[in-house]
Amino acid sequence: MNNTYEFLPNIYWVGGNDRRIERFENIFPLPNGVAYNSFLINDQKTALLDTVDSAITAEYLENIAYALNGRQLDYLIINHMEPDHCANIEEVLRRYPSAKIIGNAKTFQFFNQYYRMDISKNSMEVKEGDEISLGEHTLRFYMAPMVHWPEVMVTYETSQGILFSADAFGSFGAISGNLFADEVDYDSYFLDEARRYYTNIVGRYGNQVQALLKKLSGLQINMICSLHGHIWRGDMLDFILDKYDKWSRYIPEKKGVVIAYASMYGNTENAVNALATKLAKKGIKDMRVYDVSKTHPSYIISDIFKYSNVVFASPTYNMSLYFPMDSLIRELAILNISNRKVSLIGNHTWASAALKTMTELVNGMKNMEIIGGSIDIKSSLQKDREEELDDMVDAIYESLQD
Ligand code: FEO
Repeated sequence: MNNTYEFLPNIYWVGGNDRRIERFENIFPLPNGVAYNSFLINDQKTALLDTVDSAITAEYLENIAYALNGRQLDYLIINHMEPDHCANIEEVLRRYPSAKIIGNAKTFQFFNQYYRMDISKNSMEVKEGDEISLGEHTLRFYMAPMVHWPEVMVTYETSQGILFSADAFGSFGAISGNLFADEVDYDSYFLDEARRYYTNIVGRYGNQVQALLKKLSGLQINMICSLHGHIWRGDMLDFILDKYDKWSRYIPEKKGVVIAYASMYGNTENAVNALATKLAKKGIKDMRVYDVSKTHPSYIISDIFKYSNVVFASPTYNMSLYFPMDSLIRELAILNISNRKVSLIGNHTWASAALKTMTELVNGMKNMEIIGGSIDIKSSLQKDREEELDDMVDAIYESLQD
């Protein structure tokens, strides 16, 4: 039984979902699975846009056969050569051996690094602005290097104004029948996963995302079809473009505080709870408090991209920084997080290293301002340090005004 969706005349979604998968890229938890999107245009010529992960090959090939309805495949466009999308190129070619594979020079370089099939006779290399006509539909190619890999390109269908955007505008989470973002309660159910996807997967490449947004700004875009998650159209186009603009410029979506702490015996946690309670009593709402040893860092990173303020609190460990905290802050640096207000709490019993290391790591990031007079507690928070904690609370509170 095929599982295709003809969402415009002769344009089909032929992708699928994987709800069994535990982790994306073997790193990121997927409590709601993930969708691998692929699209097929059935015009005078037929064109398939990207393939899918090997986990759903059988269903995918059945979908393509249904949408082609006995016809041959003329073009396979490879917007992205990461295996969650390119794993079925060889399989598609075995079934449709006359198909032309469209990609750029790097696409074919990467194909030959991953796979053994000789596709030189099928390859058709394109450059920025090149077009192919399928009949009523014309596809134009724009290079989008490092959104998420260097070979990435996007494909613009000119007659309907559809952008096939590779990973950009994608999300974690399987699609549950409804293909369009405006058909689901996006804000409450999917937005957090779209943010976690963007910030952890593409977050480092904000400048490249900005370059792509600028390049596309002159196009009439009526629909965005990403390789993951829902299709964007109507009012939801502005919604996601605004989010991408903020995320890629590292501008917080809202004022608020994320507190990420490490704690071996509960003493650093106790200091963090005291801080959060004092902030709450001053009227600060909607705080997020995370134990870095418990919560997967992708969730913490996502919220740090969302909010304006972050507090890191950690004990010293092996004369250095407790390593889940060390790993979190270093990953944030790799993702180029910037423009946040940061407050720091260290803890140690006999030798202080955590606060010093956190200070150095944060100072190494762009436009991250340390506020509130960093606190270095000894083993546990004692009454005589309350004034320092109050000063930090005041500084955080002040920074959240205006
Ligand atoms: Fe969905 Fe960069 O692969």
